[in-house]
Amino acid sequence: MADELIESILNESRSFAPPKDFIDQANIDEEKVNNLKKQAKENHIQYWATLAKDQLEWFQPFKNILDESKAPNYEWFNDGVINASYNSLDVNASKSPNKTAIIFETEDGKSEHITYKELLSKTSQFANGLKKLGVEPMDRVVIYMPMCPEAVIAMQACARIGAIHSVVFGGFSSNALKDRIEDAKSKIVITADGAYRGGNIIPLKQATDEAVSQSSYKVENVVVFQRTGEKIEFNEKRDVWWRDLVSNCDSNCDPEPLNAEHPLFILYTSGSTGKPKGIQHSTAGYILHAKTTFSWVFDIKNDDVFWCTADVGWITGHTYVAYGPLLAGATILIYEGAPTFPDVGRFWDICEKHAVTIFYTAPTAIRALMKHGDEIPQSYDLSSLRLLGTVGEPINPEAWMWYHRIIGQERCPIVDTWWQTETGGAMISPLPGITETKPGSCTTPMPGIDVDIVDELGEPVGEANQGGYLVIKKPWPSMLRTIWGDNQRYIDTYWEKFDGRYYVAGDSAYRDEDGCHWIMGRIDDVLNVSGHRLGTMEVESALVANEMVAEAAVVGRPHEVKGESIFAFVVTKGERPIGEDAKKMQEALREWVAEQVGAIAKPDEIRFSDNLPKTRSGKIMRRLLRVIARDEAITQDISTLEDESIIKQLQGED
Ligand code: WTA
Repeated sequence: MADELIESILNESRSFAPPKDFIDQANIDEEKVNNLKKQAKENHIQYWATLAKDQLEWFQPFKNILDESKAPNYEWFNDGVINASYNSLDVNASKSPNKTAIIFETEDGKSEHITYKELLSKTSQFANGLKKLGVEPMDRVVIYMPMCPEAVIAMQACARIGAIHSVVFGGFSSNALKDRIEDAKSKIVITADGAYRGGNIIPLKQATDEAVSQSSYKVENVVVFQRTGEKIEFNEKRDVWWRDLVSNCDSNCDPEPLNAEHPLFILYTSGSTGKPKGIQHSTAGYILHAKTTFSWVFDIKNDDVFWCTADVGWITGHTYVAYGPLLAGATILIYEGAPTFPDVGRFWDICEKHAVTIFYTAPTAIRALMKHGDEIPQSYDLSSLRLLGTVGEPINPEAWMWYHRIIGQERCPIVDTWWQTETGGAMISPLPGITETKPGSCTTPMPGIDVDIVDELGEPVGEANQGGYLVIKKPWPSMLRTIWGDNQRYIDTYWEKFDGRYYVAGDSAYRDEDGCHWIMGRIDDVLNVSGHRLGTMEVESALVANEMVAEAAVVGRPHEVKGESIFAFVVTKGERPIGEDAKKMQEALREWVAEQVGAIAKPDEIRFSDNLPKTRSGKIMRRLLRVIARDEAITQDISTLEDESIIKQLQGED
């Protein structure tokens, strides 16, 4: 696209109104949203109560709405009884049993349709299988699966019987899996014999075996779904094939009546320490926000085919694959493999093949595909698409415009949804039939979500275009409840900064004169690499766990496709490696980090120095390291540096 056009968009902050025919058919119109916002403003608590009654099926209705007695451990609807799987599957299987719930596209191009009735019966059967293994309500179940319908079935089956699932992304290493099994104390792990990815097979079972054998917590059973047919080690005493487990199980399984506050799942995410936090969500509050935001933001209709490209290992794959769409009775597409297999047209090929109408992905994927030019998407029929979405990181206006023009053909509104693992569902996002969008802005908060931007003292910045901390001022039903096993960390991380007054998201942001929100980035040591959250400390801990490494500091550096890349400064125990030795060591350390955490955490660059820059009080000067990693000129005062001579080494010039 012409640079001048991009320039003009940036300068004028041009906005895009929804196309007229989209407005005419949208689920949420101006009047409806104003009404919702008015209700929320007049009586925040009653607003949520009305939604919860209207949107969810309760086994026993709630009387309590918001319980603040243990704040900031807020509880919602805590005398109500409900089940998430019942609300997703039974409700929709009875309304439209033969409607397709899941279209599954395999990496080698086969596809399969599963109806709501079938999904309910498969889930119930597997739930009975889990019961046979002795899984009870509150037990934790780790799911380490390929992106296939069985991953969703496993999650829904846990929800059905009240077990708490903890899905671990299949790209994480055995070591990361082990940490999560230990932290959650999970007695069951559900995995597969392998996952297809980019034409290769990822040996999930082998990683599970390593994790389980090294875990200090005893895993009783490993359930293995056969996806590839690869030969695997099979421990007869511990392992059980999925198909054997379900073979004699009834395909009816009564959904467990659970308290609204019953934990639905734990999902680990990165924070500012080396140890990922187990974000714990509740049942009713979470599914309420998942369902309503899904219906509003994605304007879902009965014949839509919704495709969210996120893996179930991330929150987006929880809320907008495994729960939100199924709660709303929608048809989703699940794609097993890599976006570039067998070529970079694969996403568009899938959109054409299955007549996808709503497509939701991460800016990093858009940027990666944009690099290959306009001709590839233009060679597919993308006329079925009517709405596009993005999530996970700020989208740069260039990528937004490409998405708008080439993929959406200027016909599809784009919903840029801001939210987090902790918030459970979309918090700030356009509503596609109403909101004028601006490339790079996630626009305005959802009804009932009270967002503000505050200064260091917690006072609203007030003025437009003034940056500050993004905070949520009132509790909302799908907020995280705690950090699994570490409530103090929950309080310290999200509430301490402003004495419990607001939820602190950890992002900085500003609001423009039209009230649109712009996310500027994280204020903590969390990176956003290819749309994945990663703590710099996690990578640092992995590096220093290597016997050759004495010290390490990791910072982010802006990256054209990934958003941010990982830059590591390392001090080795012996002599500082140079030349060929340095290259070998870099490779060895990159592999080491992949083994410790997963391939997504591999540093893009590693530089060796004799020391790390520290202040006289011994603190690593991270701001300086960020400047160096970006190849920017050093303007800050380095006179407090203990050893100025290392600057050249850090800059890679010595
Ligand atoms: C970032 C993903 C800008 C943000 C759902 C947040 C975004 C973190 C957006 C959460 C967006 C997410 N625009 N930044 N639309 N969406 N982020 O927990 O920094 O994986 O705090 O949840 O991603 O990442 P998480």
